[in-house]
Amino acid sequence: MRFVLPKGRLFKGSLEILRKAGVELKPPENRELIVKNGKYELLLARSFDVPVYVEHGVDVGIAGSDVVEERESDVLIPLELPFGKCRLSLAMPAESLTEIEDMEGFRIATKYPNIARKFFERRGVDVEVIKLHGSIELAPKIGIADAIVDIVETGNTLRANGLVEVEKIMDVSALLLVNRVSQKVKFEEINRLVLKLKEAGRNDV
Ligand code: PRP
Repeated sequence: MRFVLPKGRLFKGSLEILRKAGVELKPPENRELIVKNGKYELLLARSFDVPVYVEHGVDVGIAGSDVVEERESDVLIPLELPFGKCRLSLAMPAESLTEIEDMEGFRIATKYPNIARKFFERRGVDVEVIKLHGSIELAPKIGIADAIVDIVETGNTLRANGLVEVEKIMDVSALLLVNRVSQKVKFEEINRLVLKLKEAGRNDV
């Protein structure tokens, strides 16, 4: 069975919950991206690519609901996992707070162009979305964006950069993803894994 895990902040929690569910994956020792351990294979990917790998054939993955929503991948999501909790929010500089309805023409910096676009469409506000890959809080600070859509966990990054959370767009949690074909072909193995992860998650809370 092949697992794809994100290299970032969900990596440790993912390895841990899988281990509690009886799946022992070996973390990489150097820069390798595929690590075999008996009948299991661990693939390491960028967080935004995990749903894409699962859609295209990797049996199981763990990714945040933020990236699953952004990539709109066609995968099964049998379980929400009890870690990786944060939120995706709209934030803007404290000194230029503006009502969402008055944000027409605003430039929005984000790693989540899809989610951001849909959010403003729902509110009937036309904005320009600027896609960045990280350190989003920098964009309004140097004046290339008026607001951001980004992950907020503790709120420290926003505070440190003079930004205020204006509205939560969605709650975020780690999710278990399963490839549609694998669910059929490896039905028993995957159902067993889902049950064990459920149990491991319950004991965690
Ligand atoms: C994430 C996110 C925020 C920060 C939020 O960035 O994009 O910048 O963490 O966390 P906080 O509310 O606890 O401060 P990450 O560290 O993953 O790096 P990135 O900016 O390169 O995406």
